[in-house]
Amino acid sequence: MKIAIRYFSKTGHTAKMAEVVSKVTGIKAETVDVPITEEVDILFLGSAVYMAGIDNKIKEFFFSLDKKVKNVVCFSSAAVLSGSYTQVKRLLKKQNLPVDEREFHCRGQFKALHKGHPNQEELDKLSTFIKGIIQ
Ligand SMILES: Cc1cc2nc3c(=O)[nH]c(=O)nc-3n(C[C@H](O)[C@H](O)[C@H](O)COP(=O)(O)O)c2cc1C
Repeated sequence: MKIAIRYFSKTGHTAKMAEVVSKVTGIKAETVDVPITEEVDILFLGSAVYMAGIDNKIKEFFFSLDKKVKNVVCFSSAAVLSGSYTQVKRLLKKQNLPVDEREFHCRGQFKALHKGHPNQEELDKLSTFIKGIIQ
């Protein structure tokens, strides 16, 4: 099974989550600046919520995807909103790209809110989630 990991992270939380995905899959996690150049069975995509939306870099990355990806599995964190999944899914569907119904979301610290998140417990849950996808 061919796997790729891409993420966008402003303050390091999604990067930390992407490292967990990398550890479980044995695949290097890259930022969305690195394009997907060959067909992949699963793209693990990490994003977070900023000003109630997703960053433009993620949107630009979507435009570069065309039909190379067979399934996108999302993982995200946010301080208040229940993740970026709904927005990511809507944008990918618009491009006829397949999005897995399974997604992982947890809290991400923002200033004094949810200090220490994602924490070890959440990262362990992410690890279990990824194992469930690739087994
Ligand atoms: C500039 C900025 C804006 C944010 N806006 C929101 C928001 O509108 N809603 C929300 O739930 N979280 C918001 N957050 C919290 C982030 O989604 C959360 O901290 C997330 O874990 C950040 O991931 P990152 O460290 O990978 O960038 C914001 C964070 C930053 C830095």
